[in-house]
Amino acid sequence: MARILTGIQSTGIPHLGNILGAIQPMVQLSNMKENEAFAFIADLHSLTTIKNAEDRMKNIDGVAASWIACGFDYEKNTIYRQSDVPEVAELTWYLSCFTPFPMLANAHSFKDKSSRMNVVNAGLFTYPVLMAADILGYDANFVPVGKDQMQHLEITRDIAGAFNHQMGETFVIPEAKIDENVKIIPGTDGQKMSKSYNNTINIFLPEKELLKQVKSIVTDSTPLEEPKEPDVCNVYNIYKLVGTKEQTADIRQKYLAGGFGYGHAKQALFEVLMENFKKEREIFAYYAEHNAELDVILKAGAEKARAVISEVINRVRGKLGFKTK
Ligand code: TRP
Repeated sequence: MARILTGIQSTGIPHLGNILGAIQPMVQLSNMKENEAFAFIADLHSLTTIKNAEDRMKNIDGVAASWIACGFDYEKNTIYRQSDVPEVAELTWYLSCFTPFPMLANAHSFKDKSSRMNVVNAGLFTYPVLMAADILGYDANFVPVGKDQMQHLEITRDIAGAFNHQMGETFVIPEAKIDENVKIIPGTDGQKMSKSYNNTINIFLPEKELLKQVKSIVTDSTPLEEPKEPDVCNVYNIYKLVGTKEQTADIRQKYLAGGFGYGHAKQALFEVLMENFKKEREIFAYYAEHNAELDVILKAGAEKARAVISEVINRVRGKLGFKTK
């Protein structure tokens, strides 16, 4: 049995790029019977940047609803809010005292902002230690993350190694699970889809707004009648990631044949999104109306998570000469 764990910062509602690149692969892993998955909403991490309470609540619920909508089985596995597990803050402190200062000073996530030191808070600096506690507190074996989180994973492994070396075997050393053939999901402008580029497609939006996003996809000016090269078209490149093989082959033919304009292509993409994410949209909308139910699911998840991390904390306290609980 392998324990797989990942955290999702609650800085917005997951977009198509997050869903195809992170949520769906993790859901697949979590559904395998030889795996046990922990997915949590890294709402404490989001405090380093987001201070508005309403935004925070909206994002937390939105992330949780997205995971469940995309098929994360919260009974077989565990989904919880990081902030519902106070033990993680306790573990962060213990780990801080085994973390060399220069290691944090060298983290990209901190260094990139160090030219503007006045906006850097201490939370941003110790961010990787909280992340280490997230992972080490659950004896996680594998952590699926994007390439941008590689360094944080290395820091986690280093902290665990340092602790084990000084205090004796305590933590499981986790491995990053980076999907090398993970597709880069293009945004509406053809660059990688990212909230910070303002080029996202959000499948959970109301129909009209979703259509507007699809219509904003950048295309060239080849006239409607002319045949078109699908592989260089942003609409097609998104379509092929969400359409079935048959749907994609059909659209490809239409591009090559001519008489099929970009307006048609966008309409086809919009329809395929509505059709192929119908169930996900329904579940998401359901939880938007019933967030008390979401709360029950997340609280139950936190109970399961606390049972695990409490044991690890006891192990740590024992090693350090603090009374075990
Ligand atoms: N830092 C991660 C990100 O921004 C989110 C995160 C927090 C995380 N804790 C984690 C990811 C633990 C994996 C494991 O994407």
